[in-house]
Amino acid sequence: MATKILEVNNFSYSYGRIKAVDDISFYVEEGEIVTLIGGNGAGKTTTLRAISGLIRGGQSGQILFKGQDITHLSAHKITGLGIAQCLEGRQVFSHLTVKENLQMGAFLRKDQNKIKKDYEYVYGLFPRLKERDNQLAGTLSGGEQQMLAVGRGIMMDPKILMMDEPSLGLAPIVVNSIFEIIRQINADGRTILLVEQNSNAALSVAHRGYVVETGHIVMSDTAENLRKSEEVKKAYLGLE
Ligand SMILES: Nc1ncnc2c1ncn2[C@@H]1O[C@H](COP(=O)(O)OP(=O)(O)OP(=O)(O)O)[C@@H](O)[C@H]1O
Ligand SMILES: [Mg+2]
Repeated sequence: MATKILEVNNFSYSYGRIKAVDDISFYVEEGEIVTLIGGNGAGKTTTLRAISGLIRGGQSGQILFKGQDITHLSAHKITGLGIAQCLEGRQVFSHLTVKENLQMGAFLRKDQNKIKKDYEYVYGLFPRLKERDNQLAGTLSGGEQQMLAVGRGIMMDPKILMMDEPSLGLAPIVVNSIFEIIRQINADGRTILLVEQNSNAALSVAHRGYVVETGHIVMSDTAENLRKSEEVKKAYLGLE
């Protein structure tokens, strides 16, 4: 039987008087790619940041990780449990090299042999990063920084990897390769929660998806059904 690794139950988040997330419920099973899709200001980033513990104070409802209530835990504790969020908007450490950025990802780990293997794994996924392992991250192109953010997430060896719009600002050809890599990372056994405005691409790699609109989940289904849904096509895939 599939295990629910992450469960978000009737969760809300308010920034002062602004309710950004309003009573959402969803789950991620071990081995899945689940995507939250929706337009600007829907509450996607807020949801991820609340799961990671990066924002606190405005939450209600419950977030369970492997059955443990993490709704009020600190970001540090949550990272330690094995929940990783790829840095948003390519916020790599610009004054550190590619290699040092990856080392930062593995900071809490002690399994030296597996860490070595994971470096090779990341460099295998992103040969461009390997070629540039001594280059300062701030001088990488946008797409390369995005790759580094994903690589750093992998170096944390998380039980679940959360990504916030990995395709943001990338040229179409690079977008395709990022999603191919997300598919690959998942095929290699990692569970992924993917937040995207690029619904078409996200639904093409995900197993299931949730459509988020102004803080609410308005639809949830298999990715295949969501892709076929006329409503989703009209509203979110930019097709008539
Ligand atoms: N720190 C904050 N203080 C006040 N309001 C905020 C804050 N962060 C986000 N919001 C508001 O919460 C709502 C949800 O924002 P959020 O960033 O979660 O949306 P999103 O779905 O990630 O959108 P996008 O696709 O544009 O990134 C928005 O109305 C936003 O203005
Ligand atoms: Mg966002």
